[in-house]
Amino acid sequence: MGTFPKQVKIVEVGPRDGLQNEKNVVPTAVKIRLIDMLSEAGLPVIEATSFVSPKWVPQMADHTEVLRGIQKFPGINYPVLTPNMKGFEAAVAAGAKEVSIFGAVSELFTKKNVNCSIAESFQRFDGIMKAAQAASIPVRGYISCVLGCPYEGKISPAKVAEVAKKLYSMGCYEISLGDTIGVGTPGLMKDMLSAVMQEVPMAALAVHCHDTYGQALANTLMALQMGVSVVDASVAGLGGCPYAQGASGNLATEDLVYMLSGLGIHTVSPLATWWRQPRAEGATREEAPRV
Ligand code: HMG
Ligand code: MG
Repeated sequence: MGTFPKQVKIVEVGPRDGLQNEKNVVPTAVKIRLIDMLSEAGLPVIEATSFVSPKWVPQMADHTEVLRGIQKFPGINYPVLTPNMKGFEAAVAAGAKEVSIFGAVSELFTKKNVNCSIAESFQRFDGIMKAAQAASIPVRGYISCVLGCPYEGKISPAKVAEVAKKLYSMGCYEISLGDTIGVGTPGLMKDMLSAVMQEVPMAALAVHCHDTYGQALANTLMALQMGVSVVDASVAGLGGCPYAQGASGNLATEDLVYMLSGLGIHTVSPLATWWRQPRAEGATREEAPRV
């Protein structure tokens, strides 16, 4: 078993993964306030919304207003999900500086989630990658169902490694490995990561664990021991995918922070440290350090 990383980057996905799955649509002003408060908490990356079809996910229909309305703190990234060129163009028009594409290892899940085959999803990614590279916009890649699929059941680690390699070769700077319905256990995580790390550098891997059977923290701990240093989490454990039957909440950010701080692993961004220092009266966030 390896040693833990000294520092972990937390990618907060609550405003997107959490709120996309809420039965009631959360008012735009509440979303904006939530994201601003998450920024003030010192999270380095906050996934703000997704530029998907409002017919498919009405909870994210206010993507433009949310992205325009939030305070953009220096040093914090606010990526958004983009399933196709239409979403990418709308995201850029709304001021997105980073986007995420999302694919899966399961054909049936891909069809239910984005209405196409895995091969067609890669054609869409190709267009987005080219446009993003031309605009110098970093792209993160998600892979869903890495530890099991609600429609296809078991997933082979070799298949995950193949999709991860493809996304990495296309130019995704980070690959987030999603246990979409939270069926993984530490043993499955170990086998899957052992295969993926043969194809993609560890520094470019993130884990994204849903918590259906209370395994998210244990699965994440296994990933940390194997060298992963980027972890997705969602405030209050909100989350789920509307097109994955049985998907429940994500690993709660506060539980992750509690565990990491107990292990002596650094998470707080320099910006958060700045916020907590006594400052001259009237100091503004513009004076915060660029990190
Ligand atoms: P489609 O119906 O096949 O799209 O949906 P289409 O290209 O045939 O177009 C149909 C209509 O949608 C057209 O409008 C398009 O303009 C419009 P109409 O002419 O009928 O008025 N349209 C759009 N509108 C707004 N934004 C867009 C867009 N694209 C087309 N970007 C599509 C295909 C991909 C759009 C749809 O399936 C979709 O939006 N899916 C998103 C599903 C989703 O958001 N799932 C949750 C996120 S993934 C997740 O949670 C997993 C993750 O957390 C990791 C893990 O846990 O594993 C990331
Ligand atoms: Mg998710």
